[in-house]
Amino acid sequence: MPSRPPLDRAQFPVTDRWAYLNHAGITALPKPALEAQYRCARDLAVDGGLAYAGHAERAEEVRSAAAAVMGVPADDVAFVKNTTEGLGFVANGLTWQEGDRVVVPDLEFPSTIYPWLALRDRGVVVDLVSPVGAGRCLPVDAFAETIASGPPPKVVATSWVQFGRGWRTDLASLASVCHAAGALLCADVIQGLGVVPAELEAWGVDFAMADAHKWLLGPLGIGVLYVRRSCLEELRPLEPGWASVVHREQWDNLDLVWDDSARRFEGGSPNMVGIHGMGASLDLLLNAGMEAVWTHVSALTDRACEGLASAGATVTCDRSPKGRSGIVTFTVAEQDPVTVTAALESRGVVCSPRGGGVRLSPHGYNTYEEVDRLVSTVAELTGAA
Ligand SMILES: Cc1ncc(COP(=O)(O)O)c(C=O)c1O
Repeated sequence: MPSRPPLDRAQFPVTDRWAYLNHAGITALPKPALEAQYRCARDLAVDGGLAYAGHAERAEEVRSAAAAVMGVPADDVAFVKNTTEGLGFVANGLTWQEGDRVVVPDLEFPSTIYPWLALRDRGVVVDLVSPVGAGRCLPVDAFAETIASGPPPKVVATSWVQFGRGWRTDLASLASVCHAAGALLCADVIQGLGVVPAELEAWGVDFAMADAHKWLLGPLGIGVLYVRRSCLEELRPLEPGWASVVHREQWDNLDLVWDDSARRFEGGSPNMVGIHGMGASLDLLLNAGMEAVWTHVSALTDRACEGLASAGATVTCDRSPKGRSGIVTFTVAEQDPVTVTAALESRGVVCSPRGGGVRLSPHGYNTYEEVDRLVSTVAELTGAA
C-alpha cells in the first residue's frame, strides 16, 4: 500500500516538471511560500514603512512556528541569515582561552567545520572524530572516545545529519556524553530539521542552527539559531544594534541592555520577506505534522533502497532506525556519480552527486511513483532493466 503524501502535491509547482528528490540541496518552493513573500514585498510597495508593524507581528508568529518545529521555546530562537551565520555566532561569540579544546567530525560540510578550525589562530585545539563502518555512520561512542582522549572540550560541534552520506547522530545521547564531560553541544541541524521530528531542548542541545532552504521548504537566506536559555549569557552578541536591546525602538534610549531572549542576536532590520516565506513553509509542515512527514519520507527512502539494491546499485548510507535520515546515497558500479545524476535529470529526476555517490532526498509530497522512476533509470544504467 503506497504511503500517502502528507504534504499536498498541488502546493508544489515543481511536481509539474520534475520528480524532485533534492531537498538536501535546495528545496523547491511551495506556492504558499512564494505567495507569502510576494504579499510581504507588495505591502512594502504600496504602504512602505506603514506595513512594518503588521510584518513584525507576523515575524513573531513565525518565530513560534520555527520553535515548534525545533522543539524549543520561542524566546530561545533568533532569526539569522543562514546556518553559517548561526555557527559563526556560536564559535565567535563564546569566550576562548589558549588551549581550549573543540571536538568536531572530520567529514562535515565546510560551514560546519571551518568556524572551529578558524579558532586555531586563537590557540584553540580542534580534535577531529572520524566516521566508522566504511564512512557510513558516526556513533556516539566514537565521539566519546575522542572526548576522553584529551582534556575536557569546551564545545562538541556536529551536524545532526551529515550532508553527504546522511548518517544521523543521536543528539540526546551525545548531549549526555558532552555534559558529563563539561562540554557544550552545538548541532548544525539543517539536514534534519523539517523532516525528522526534533526535540532539541529535551535532548539537551545547547546551540542549533538551520537555514530554511532545505528540509524546511523555505527560501534561501533566512534561518534560525537556537540558544539554550542557560547559555544565553555565555554567548556574546556579535552584531549589537537597535534590535538587540530590551528597549528596542526607543530610539533615544542608548543604554546597552540586552534583550532577555535570543532576539539579542538580531542586531538590525530582519529579512522580512524571507521570514514571511519561511513562515508559510513552516505552517505547511506543522499542519501536515512532523511525525507524518517523517513516516512518509522513511517509507519513500525504504522503497528507494530496496529498488536500488535490486537494480544492482549499492546503497552506501546508514539505514538503521536511529541512524537513518531523509538522505539516501548510492553508487552504480564503475559509473561516475555526476554522469548518473545527469542521466537521472534527463529523465526528469533531480538528485545531487554527493558523499562519493548519488544523493537522493525526498520530502513529504514525493510519491512512490517518483522513486520508482529513479530506480528504473538506474536499472537501465546497470543493465538490470
Ligand atoms: C550540514 C550543512 N551545514 C551547513 C550548510 C550551509 O548552510 P547555509 O548556506 O545555510 O549556511 C549546508 C549546506 O549544504 C549543510 O549541508
